[in-house]
Amino acid sequence: MAAFSSVPLVSRRPLIIFIATLFIAVCIFIAATALELAPNPIPAVTSAIKTQPLSAAARNESLGFGEIVYISMPYRTDRQDAMTLVASTTGMKIKLIPGVDGNDIHVKARPDFTPENMAASALGCWRAHADAWRYMLDSNLETMLILEDDLDWDVNVHDIFEHLSEEMQHNPLRLDPQTARERLAAPYGLDWDFLFLGQCLDSPNPKRSDLFHMYKDDNMPDIDHQIHELKNTERKFGLSEKMIAEYRVLAPTWGPACTMAYAVTRQGAQRLLTWLSYMGLSAPVDNDMSFKSQSGHFHGYDLLPPPFGAWRVEGIKDSDNLRFEKSKPLSGNGNRGGSSLNVKNSARKRLQEMMYANTWNRYDKAFPKKSDEEINLSKQKGKLGYK
Ligand SMILES: *[C@@H]1O[C@H](CO)[C@@H](O)[C@H](O)[C@H]1NC(C)=O
Ligand SMILES: *[C@@H]1O[C@H](CO)[C@@H](O)[C@H](O)[C@H]1NC(C)=O
Repeated sequence: MAAFSSVPLVSRRPLIIFIATLFIAVCIFIAATALELAPNPIPAVTSAIKTQPLSAAARNESLGFGEIVYISMPYRTDRQDAMTLVASTTGMKIKLIPGVDGNDIHVKARPDFTPENMAASALGCWRAHADAWRYMLDSNLETMLILEDDLDWDVNVHDIFEHLSEEMQHNPLRLDPQTARERLAAPYGLDWDFLFLGQCLDSPNPKRSDLFHMYKDDNMPDIDHQIHELKNTERKFGLSEKMIAEYRVLAPTWGPACTMAYAVTRQGAQRLLTWLSYMGLSAPVDNDMSFKSQSGHFHGYDLLPPPFGAWRVEGIKDSDNLRFEKSKPLSGNGNRGGSSLNVKNSARKRLQEMMYANTWNRYDKAFPKKSDEEINLSKQKGKLGYK
């Protein structure tokens, strides 16, 4: 009997495994259905992200923003090649938003109150940025980073943004407490319209230069490689030369110029389309963003020094703004002679080293060259090729 009773136990084991598997499958099905039917259109946050700090998202291909786009005139395929290269070698994914020739904008599509004398290039620039804001609102994104096409950045860009994310999650300048959504899934918070990350000029609110937050950063550009005007801005906040060399400054947007790099939130894109299109346009896009920050229509932050800098090459290739193209050669030393400010370890400069395959030196190391005698000997034996 003892031998008999052990038989059903063994034969029952597959049944137990089958039932357990079925149970797990049903659980997965129920969980999947629940996710599918969730009313929130924003993608669910997986448990993998929950167990990591939010700032870890800055290490992903869009630096923790929903997406990265860049604006480039359709004919500047040279710059598009370059942007794709630099992005691909620094772990970033970028999407092209075509630039616009201001002359192609129909007179009826010009925003109301646009100054008569606004240059076509400035109008085209505004339109391309407006297209980017619109793209963001048409997509299911909470934040988006907008770049122009002549940029350089640091090889450690992910470290820089991870640190920025940590600081912004503990941002002492917040006007409202963090929402549950921000705590769950917004690496940079969502309490801003735009975040300036590539300005060429800036100034603090002269009445509120006490409003800033500074933090030490390991990837600070050498003080001699910071834009002169932006160092002056930091002096206006009261920073010493030593602090300017070691700290980044986060401050409410007041007087930035240049739209080389900035992030927007959905609310930011809505406000931008409202105040810089629907209600009219009073100046070139960067100036109008600055003016309407000063009048309180926008709530932005500026990072100083900004992590994105212009990649300068000589000649008229350097700019797509016709006003600067007079009497210059087409190109000097091109990208070989290029340089940038505000970047400690230039991704553009590293690119040249990275892309050199060093083929023949590597062959000589891996397969030491035979002597002529050895080669003759093997030829006599009819042995050709490397053996
Ligand atoms: C990067 O992280 C952000 C924030 O979690 C997310 O919205 C975005 O989709 C991620 N990007 C990629 C390419 O995974
Ligand atoms: C190898 O062979 C070539 C001709 O086949 C000859 O000219 C050369 O001197 C030889 N070299 C040696 C080191 O034997």
